Amino acid sequence: MGFKIADIEIENNVVLAPMAGFCDSAFRTICKEHGAGLIYTEMVSNKAVVDRNWETMEMLYMENSEKPLGIQIFGTDLESFVGATKYIAENTECDFLDINMGCPMPKIAKKLQAGAALLKDVDRINEILTAVVKAVHKPVTVKMRMGWDTENINAIEVAKACEAAGVSAIALHARTREQMYTGQANWDVIRDVRKAVNTVLIGNGDVDSPQSAKAMMEHTGCDAVMVGRASRGNPWIFRQIAEYLNTGEIIHPPTPAERVEVLAEHLRRLIKLKTAKVAVKEIRTHASFYLQDIPNSKEFRMKLNQLENEGEIFELLDSYRDTVI
Ligand SMILES: Cc1cc2nc3c(=O)[nH]c(=O)nc-3n(C[C@H](O)[C@H](O)[C@H](O)COP(=O)(O)O)c2cc1C
Repeated sequence: MGFKIADIEIENNVVLAPMAGFCDSAFRTICKEHGAGLIYTEMVSNKAVVDRNWETMEMLYMENSEKPLGIQIFGTDLESFVGATKYIAENTECDFLDINMGCPMPKIAKKLQAGAALLKDVDRINEILTAVVKAVHKPVTVKMRMGWDTENINAIEVAKACEAAGVSAIALHARTREQMYTGQANWDVIRDVRKAVNTVLIGNGDVDSPQSAKAMMEHTGCDAVMVGRASRGNPWIFRQIAEYLNTGEIIHPPTPAERVEVLAEHLRRLIKLKTAKVAVKEIRTHASFYLQDIPNSKEFRMKLNQLENEGEIFELLDSYRDTVI
């Protein structure tokens, strides 16, 4: 199967969701190698890009092997959106630029009036998207929620504004901002948006298995599914879904030893990307996801959380792998 965003060929229908704190180049390359057809980065601030904030500049790092890849930006003011998209389009190898209209976190959606707050003003969306699409030669996409709250579900109106502005794809997380991550995603809204616009539509919300991916595609008619939370510590899900959509075959889950091996590889890549000091801290969160289904992993994780030296962590991972085989 596969699908296309503008001229970008995507080899299957499974997309890694943008996730702040997770989707750095280390995790993205692992997801790509495990079958993700399309990759999004974690969100970066448009203002920080315009100001050339060094931490944000480092977040723009990508490997060629991650392509096709979209860099996601969030922000409020038009000038920074245009400045940031231009800079990113001209200075990185990304394939497209994605505008965040879904982040529900108070410091983004309330304080900055960015992310999901943009959904409250369709004229403004139109203004921002028209300017950004005009400013760059690369495709522009949008990731959105279905509305601000239950009284204001305006996914169709926003999707139409995206289409009119020349956006090349929409990823729709079928929850409101008010819901944050609670309740169930309302796939009916994805289906309704599918009927309302011709833009490429990526469905998102609660896909956590090959079966749920197929169910979403059948229920909504979306072009691809986007997987967020279920991919944390579980990059195998991409190939599992892609295979199931293509052939109906279920690929066996990884063994505990394979989980530990990929966790060690994740740590190696984080060290290369961000220094050992940062990697040792960040791997703790990832480890809790990689090992969540392995019996008796709690004691191992407690030990891991106490170690500060990467050599000791690799030794611990080696000995743990030998015990879980
Ligand atoms: C830890 C975390 C960080 C996230 N960061 C972003 C982000 O930077 N940009 C964005 O558009 N969505 C972000 N999201 C939302 C996801 O992309 C996705 O829309 C949401 O998790 C629903 O999909 P799921 O049910 O497959 O998890 C984040 C979600 C989580 C759990």
